[in-house]
Amino acid sequence: MDVKTVTRVYFSPTGTTRRIAESVAAGIAGDGEAVFDCTKRSWRGQVPGTFRDDVVILAAPVYYGRLPEPAVDCFTRLTADKTPAVLVAVYGNRAYDDALIELFDIAVARGFVPIAAGAFIGEHSYSTEALPMAPGRPDAEDLTAAREFGTAVMKKLTAIRSLEAVNPVRVPCDRPYIEPEGLHRLRRMRQSSSVTPETDASLCTRCNKCIEACPQDAIDRVDVTRTDKEECILCCACVKVCPVGARRFTEPAFFPLLKKIQELCRERKEPECYL
Ligand SMILES: Cc1cc2nc3c(=O)[nH]c(=O)nc-3n(C[C@H](O)[C@H](O)[C@H](O)COP(=O)(O)O)c2cc1C
Repeated sequence: MDVKTVTRVYFSPTGTTRRIAESVAAGIAGDGEAVFDCTKRSWRGQVPGTFRDDVVILAAPVYYGRLPEPAVDCFTRLTADKTPAVLVAVYGNRAYDDALIELFDIAVARGFVPIAAGAFIGEHSYSTEALPMAPGRPDAEDLTAAREFGTAVMKKLTAIRSLEAVNPVRVPCDRPYIEPEGLHRLRRMRQSSSVTPETDASLCTRCNKCIEACPQDAIDRVDVTRTDKEECILCCACVKVCPVGARRFTEPAFFPLLKKIQELCRERKEPECYL
């Protein structure tokens, strides 16, 4: 089949998923491209109409071994008419657990035909200089792997005569989805305590970059020290974007958990591609 427009649909608060999706798209190298960035809540409403001829890359980071809620919210609004989809999960070097199979199930339910899937590694959202977790990833090797994956997808697509004859890609599968207990503690802490990042008013220069970066619009536009704890998804976009280090986690109970996550992230993982 001819590859016309390659569309990237992604959720990416700290930018690693976006970069991997760009490299995969560059490898596919279709005639045209389109981008639907659903990171910001205000952009999530602008869902495109039914995809037909396109190849669509659906990309999201892994949160707690699953897909982040806003990404699910976005992807479940898409509709497709047997459109080939390339599934991409980006994780912080711990594990992607059920994120890829969850993405597969959503894609099929929305009318896509998942023809390829990949799990890639990005710097962990909670990585800091003091507690590095996959720092600097995706690195040059990761981006090359993503591009080569895209090229392999293109080869597969050009060899396809009819999507009816194509079996959907098989991805590692563990239904029902597991609920990784250790990581779920983070989610519970968020709901019950002050685990959201705080602004150190003495350092803050009021540049408002954190407000713009927050996918959930959780930071008060007038008083930047106020964060809506119900809305915050702990994605760290505000922490990573702050040029003076004024946004950070201060809740003491958070740090032992981060140390544990770091231990699980120590050994370098490599991208896994399924075609
Ligand atoms: C709330 C939360 C939960 C996460 N859970 C996992 C996880 O289960 N496994 C993992 O390896 N990385 C996990 N990560 C790390 C992200 O998947 C990783 O940093 C990813 O590259 C972030 O994508 P982005 O740069 O597009 O935002 C988590 C990050 C956050 C913010």
